[in-house]
Amino acid sequence: MQAGNAWILKPVAEMSTSEFSDWCQLLETRSGMVLTEQRRSFLQVNLTARMRELGVTDYADYYQQVLDGPSAAVEWTNLLDKLTVQETHFFRHQASYDFVADFLRKRIADNNHKKPLSIWSVGCATGEEPWSLAITVAQVLREQGSGQGFAVTATDISHSALKKARAACYSARRLEPLSKELIEHYFVEEQPGFFQVKKNLMQRVCFARLNVLELANAPISSMDVIFCQNLLIYFRRWQRREILNHLAAKLAPGGVLVVGLGEVTGWEHTDLQPVDNEKVLAFTRKG
Ligand SMILES: C[S@@+](CC[C@H](N)C(=O)[O-])C[C@H]1O[C@@H](n2cnc3c(N)ncnc32)[C@H](O)[C@@H]1O
Repeated sequence: MQAGNAWILKPVAEMSTSEFSDWCQLLETRSGMVLTEQRRSFLQVNLTARMRELGVTDYADYYQQVLDGPSAAVEWTNLLDKLTVQETHFFRHQASYDFVADFLRKRIADNNHKKPLSIWSVGCATGEEPWSLAITVAQVLREQGSGQGFAVTATDISHSALKKARAACYSARRLEPLSKELIEHYFVEEQPGFFQVKKNLMQRVCFARLNVLELANAPISSMDVIFCQNLLIYFRRWQRREILNHLAAKLAPGGVLVVGLGEVTGWEHTDLQPVDNEKVLAFTRKG
């Protein structure tokens, strides 16, 4: 047996308490991600998987590589892709999409808002959320016979998730939450069992890498809808509030911020009004 193969068969090594603490601190400072003690083995397994690819045997050596090695940026990206939870679905929380559709109907009817509608999916993962939002807007415009323009911006910290999101090709299984009519209207079957978003919808959505800890510098403003679901749960309470404060500043007057139900409690903002609807957690920007 070759030396390399012997290494592959070795069990995952136990991390010392100080090593675990160093990794947690690095991850939290750079991405906001909080790893609890229960996630220690998750961290060990994922670090080990990457370390095996590199032939590194020691957590401390790999830590140095991620911190300031010659490929530190690449290593950091690789690690984030492995450690972030990217679970998502089309129309994951239907009530939130129904709320956005209602909001858009009113926005379109309002003669003061004739500029293209701007929608932002924050933490878009592999794209199911921004494509669901794009379909929601397109459907409302169709139903209203409106020619108003729209654009969806979708951001995430993970390069690999963004790559899949941009490719916009999903299996029939992923598309199960969509009606046959929606699939026929917005997708083409590229190969048996795989569906590609149609070009005219693809032109409406742009993807970018953005860490929500760096929102203050993000060149995004005047959004009509900001959709941020299943992301804040990975952050500490104070950081959730900071993120929400930055998102609030990026809303257009009258725009809405839609968060996942129960993802934040007791947060208030002087410029925002909570929406009175128990099925969703949303806030409207005054003015
Ligand atoms: C569980 S998914 C949620 C996807 C989608 N919003 C939904 O509700 O289905 C969380 C996403 O947040 C992203 N994420 C985690 N930390 C982030 C950060 N600091 N900045 C931006 N995105 C981050 C992950 O890469 C992942 O794609």
